[in-house]
Amino acid sequence: MGAKLNRHITRKVFWLLCIIIVAYSLLPLISFQFAKPAEKSNNNQVNVEQIEKNEGSYFSFIVFGDSHNGLFTNDASTLKLLWHMNREDRFRKVPIDFVVSVGDVSLDGSRHDFKAWKKIQNLTKYPVIAAIGNHDDRELFKEFCGDNQFAFVNRNSYFIVVDNADDAPDVEWLEERLKDGQRYAHTFVIMHKPPCDPYQQEWYNIDNAPWAYNLRKLLAKYHVDMVFAGHKHMFRCQKFDGVDYVTTGGGGMLIEVPESDGGYLHYIRVMVNHDYVTYEIRKVSPPLWLHITYYLAKEALYWARNWYGSGYIFGKNKTIIEPKVQGLNDQEYWFERK
Ligand SMILES: [Fe+2]
Repeated sequence: MGAKLNRHITRKVFWLLCIIIVAYSLLPLISFQFAKPAEKSNNNQVNVEQIEKNEGSYFSFIVFGDSHNGLFTNDASTLKLLWHMNREDRFRKVPIDFVVSVGDVSLDGSRHDFKAWKKIQNLTKYPVIAAIGNHDDRELFKEFCGDNQFAFVNRNSYFIVVDNADDAPDVEWLEERLKDGQRYAHTFVIMHKPPCDPYQQEWYNIDNAPWAYNLRKLLAKYHVDMVFAGHKHMFRCQKFDGVDYVTTGGGGMLIEVPESDGGYLHYIRVMVNHDYVTYEIRKVSPPLWLHITYYLAKEALYWARNWYGSGYIFGKNKTIIEPKVQGLNDQEYWFERK
């Protein structure tokens, strides 16, 4: 009788502990509801002015993207990322000058979403810069974040924030900025949509767009060090003509890509040391409650699909599907930039 009661109590205590641990991971989300948003005047222009006062050639900055704030799942993930970002300076080795978002700061461009983003900004201890994404309403972006296209100097480096929320950017404007950037040791370009496909098993199909090809040639011509983009909710680094293209879209939005292919929450920390540029990926696990309600299920789905295949037992899968775009092999843009 006593042993049975003991087992019963142990089981109850175990489940109670589980509930407490999971509930504990929800706490930041609760306090976030009462957090104060940053002032609208705390925008791109104001932060750039502050950044441009920095001097020296040894610094760090943080890049992330696609936080899509305004949905509780995304806010919870961004808050966890933020906790890690705000600890990046704890070793006092190198100043962290700013944080930049590569766009899609809002879930879908509503005023409510932008207010959530401004709360995230207010909780960030470094100056925040934001690029515009395709989900960010233009008028509201201007109201909450300021300029959508600009360039600035930080110490020995030149940063160009490009608006390509609608695909092709303003190339003439960009080329002028790239010329300006030649006076500095490094040039970094920040845009929302990568001019390449970070993931081939995906519908995002920009690799065969002339603007993307030409843009890569242009960025190589001016020896850009690194290009940061998002749009795809994953991490991937690719190199074209000596330029690193980092897709960093793991800033909060629920991720669909398998973890083994880069589908995880993360941010990038870049370190500039005079002539050298290095970066590290900071992979952050989701909040526990989100891990058990979404991310484990996502991985399980991919695991099951991989294990079972997609009808490989009975299906022959022999139909050849032509690309949607015709004439890919006989267009001049594949060979030289006009
Ligand atoms: Fe996005």
